[in-house]
Amino acid sequence: MCGIVGYAGAAQAGPLLLEGLARLEYRGYDAAGVAVQGDAGQIAIVREAGRLENLAKKTDCGLLLDGCCGIGHTRWATHGAPDKRNAHPHASPGNRVAIVHNGIIANHRALRAELEAEGCVFLSETDTEAAVLLLDRCYARLAGKPPRARAVQALMEMAARLEGSYAICALFADQPGAVYAVRRGSPLAAGRCSGAQAGYMIASDVHALAGYAEAAVFLADGEIAVMTRDALRLYDAAGKPAARPPEPIDADAGCAKKGGYAHFMLKEMHEQPRAVRDTLAPFILRDGDLLHADLSAAGLDEAALLSVCRVLLTGCGSAFHAGLAGRAMIERLAGIPCEAELASEWPSRLPPPEGTLAVVISQSGETADSLAALRLLRAQGVRTLALVNAPHSAMAREADRVLLTRAGQEIAVATTKAYAAQMAALGLLAVRLAAAKGRLAHGREHALLRALLDLPETLKCLLGEGESMKRIAREIGDAQSVFFIGRGIDAAAAMEGALKLKEVSYIHAQAYPAGELKHGTLSLIERGTPVIAVCTQREQAERMRASMAEAASRGARCILIAGEGCAEEAEGEVIRLPGTEPLFAPLLAAVPMQQLAYYAGCARGNDVDRPRNLAKSVTVE
Ligand code: M6R
Repeated sequence: MCGIVGYAGAAQAGPLLLEGLARLEYRGYDAAGVAVQGDAGQIAIVREAGRLENLAKKTDCGLLLDGCCGIGHTRWATHGAPDKRNAHPHASPGNRVAIVHNGIIANHRALRAELEAEGCVFLSETDTEAAVLLLDRCYARLAGKPPRARAVQALMEMAARLEGSYAICALFADQPGAVYAVRRGSPLAAGRCSGAQAGYMIASDVHALAGYAEAAVFLADGEIAVMTRDALRLYDAAGKPAARPPEPIDADAGCAKKGGYAHFMLKEMHEQPRAVRDTLAPFILRDGDLLHADLSAAGLDEAALLSVCRVLLTGCGSAFHAGLAGRAMIERLAGIPCEAELASEWPSRLPPPEGTLAVVISQSGETADSLAALRLLRAQGVRTLALVNAPHSAMAREADRVLLTRAGQEIAVATTKAYAAQMAALGLLAVRLAAAKGRLAHGREHALLRALLDLPETLKCLLGEGESMKRIAREIGDAQSVFFIGRGIDAAAAMEGALKLKEVSYIHAQAYPAGELKHGTLSLIERGTPVIAVCTQREQAERMRASMAEAASRGARCILIAGEGCAEEAEGEVIRLPGTEPLFAPLLAAVPMQQLAYYAGCARGNDVDRPRNLAKSVTVE
């Protein structure tokens, strides 16, 4: 994980690096650090444990650092405790070479042993330190070569020895004014800055560049970049000069503000109506009086859809939960066999049969497990569709087809609006597949699309009614465990509810298909244990009532989140959802569960936008 940034130009690097890191902090917030190079080449390193604000305080927001060239890092700890010693940048003795690194160097133990045998002394527990000491050795051996060729060659030699994934930015004390970078697996984008910041900036994602650069070059795997004030030079993995046209980037990306809300999570919950509307709008067209869906812009024209015999949905965390709901929508509407599997589990599965469309779902488009699944599926010859929220992400660039969710940048670690957009997009895909397969009676496609287009208004009403969940959040604040249950598509919604609650409130929460309670979990129910039941499908209402009764008779405090017509004869507290097409109702059910998580997190004094131990973008496997 982690976010890295580098700058070489006319302006003081410190404040720019700090600003870049602030925009990358969603990638990790265990520690942060910068290395700034002065005109004479000397490299000054400042590192602090904890949030970026600690580094900002120490450096007066970067103003205390002198030099127009530097690199920075915000850390999500993988190797070594989240303390100052393990914070990046890491350097070789005398700060001859300093690097920041995002990723994991899988063979770091072997490298460390080899380097220690040669007399190197390690000061941290990180995998990164092996890389910088190795780079220093390679660089020293190449003394006498012209400076740039020497550094490029040293980076190539280092890269040839590293296993795993990495994006690395490096400074060399004897090359003032130049930032070097190399990547494999982990992303890097570089752009030309103008005006007072004239020069070049490089970062783990374009959010750090937005507003400074208008366009960015996305480094290919194995590529090496050299940035100075006047130029960005690229070299391929063999050291040959390379070229790639820059792609325009959105000037507002990365500049998200809370807009009067107490937290990004709350703001993003309230942005769900817009996220759903913007995601659906490009694909739903009016044909006379009727609506119809057209996904050709996402590479799914009639012929492509007709050839789909099977769908595989994969992703991690909430994206996987959206995939589980998508499975139910696609199977029910299109009648196509559909499988949902965690991306991290995909490598241990058999390749899918011919005719499979694999949908890889991800907000960031950078999640390492999902990216690895995408690459494996492509290598197996499977057609892939990336359902992603980040247009410049690795998944968007590598998949055969892309269906963009347009939720806008999501800052809070707990996903809300991106999940809602994924659910809406999967509903749309299900409708379109069903229409292509001739499964929808006249007018049914229109009715389903109408229901999708009505979701934003319905969401708005629902978001205005958070009071009951606020009270319930207070009441369950001391619970040891909270259980979430549902059947069919509602089991997927329950899983999302449980994840949200544990992620934001740190209360242990577990989701089960309701029928499974009696096969073991009932033993955990005690007097007052909260059980949140989700029921949006009428045909499940009676069986859900039975499951709730089983829990209630053991003392559980049951709260039912009920779709239209699903709460008749229900006992205990009921949160009623507005009416919609039942298959889309789980998208609505997410809202009260998000509110529950948010208010429970706030009541416990947690940092709801940046829960402990987590990061927004999980770029390590
Ligand atoms: O960026 P992605 O959608 O690929 O992220 C996948 C998960 O890490 C993510 O959904 C995670 O579970 C959320 N923080 C849950 O709120």
